Amino acid sequence: MTHASSPLSPLSPLGGFPQTRLRRTRRWDWVRAMVQETQLSASNLIWPIFVIEGTERTEPIATMPGVERMSIDIAVRAAERAAELGVGAVAIFPVTPAQKKSLRGDEALVAGNLICTATRAIRERCKDSLGIVCDVALDPYTSHGHDGIMVDDYIVNDPTLEVLCQQAVLQAQAGASVIAPSDMMDGRIGAIRKALDQAGFEHVILMSYAAKYASAFYGPFRDAVGSAKNLGGASKKTYQMDPANSDEAIREVAFDIQEGADIVMVKPGMPYLDIVRRIHDQFSIPLAVYQVSGEYAMLKFAAQGSAINEEACVMESMLAFRRAGADAILTYFAPQVATWLASHP
Ligand code: PBG
Repeated sequence: MTHASSPLSPLSPLGGFPQTRLRRTRRWDWVRAMVQETQLSASNLIWPIFVIEGTERTEPIATMPGVERMSIDIAVRAAERAAELGVGAVAIFPVTPAQKKSLRGDEALVAGNLICTATRAIRERCKDSLGIVCDVALDPYTSHGHDGIMVDDYIVNDPTLEVLCQQAVLQAQAGASVIAPSDMMDGRIGAIRKALDQAGFEHVILMSYAAKYASAFYGPFRDAVGSAKNLGGASKKTYQMDPANSDEAIREVAFDIQEGADIVMVKPGMPYLDIVRRIHDQFSIPLAVYQVSGEYAMLKFAAQGSAINEEACVMESMLAFRRAGADAILTYFAPQVATWLASHP
């Protein structure tokens, strides 16, 4: 029997109008809730935060209204509130002062740097009630703003791997629960897994930015961490993926799984839901999606201009990620979404 001739098939002549009326199960709240295929909870959320030096300091980010860079003491309190709201994890991004940036990004390997200090402080306060994600890549630390070591204008792969491994171990020592390589060097997942295991961190989770595209939607993030002026308009196309490619995302994910990734990520989010769906269908592995800074800015500025309803559109975008197959969602809206979820469960 072909699929189409089954009485249960949506294409079956037996299942048509007027016997079948799909609006019946849309009539009341209780039945809409009963047949809802996708759910969202605060535990699906990962909140990216920006940390700065100093104490009791916050700085607004012009291109990301509502998001602030926070000194570590304030970030600790914010993380604690997020944990109370049920948010699963925070992802820490350091805003490195210009004078600490260098060609090779040496500050990445300083045990007392911003990300490690913030990790220790949040871990101390929140214990295991909250995951802590640390990004592995050199762009917050390099004077050229690239994610790896540069030789003759090219980001060299294998020498970068060595530094990334040391960076990952340092972050694990500080208390990271999840190491998230966002650099897109080849072979980094295997190399970092080995380095973590050798250092006794075999329990630390590896979340790979597996399908990370060379996207223009990262603009506000580069303002937030101050790497935009270092990059000076240069692109990351020699290591991040071409937005035209989809099959290549499958190869990236397959390699990362083989190399030991526990969670794989697609980034950006909303323009790449087709990639999320393909990976979800093809692999059985926890999947994350990153609603990046440019997506945040689009939603926020449109809401501020009263073009859209912020809560309705943000919640719809969250559901869209879950529907496409994402388990975890990195979003700057995380505490706001968790608050909305708590106020009308
Ligand atoms: C750095 C990194 C970037 C983002 C997360 N980690 C920027 C980039 O690759 O240039 C972007 C996040 C966002 O736009 O919200 N490796």
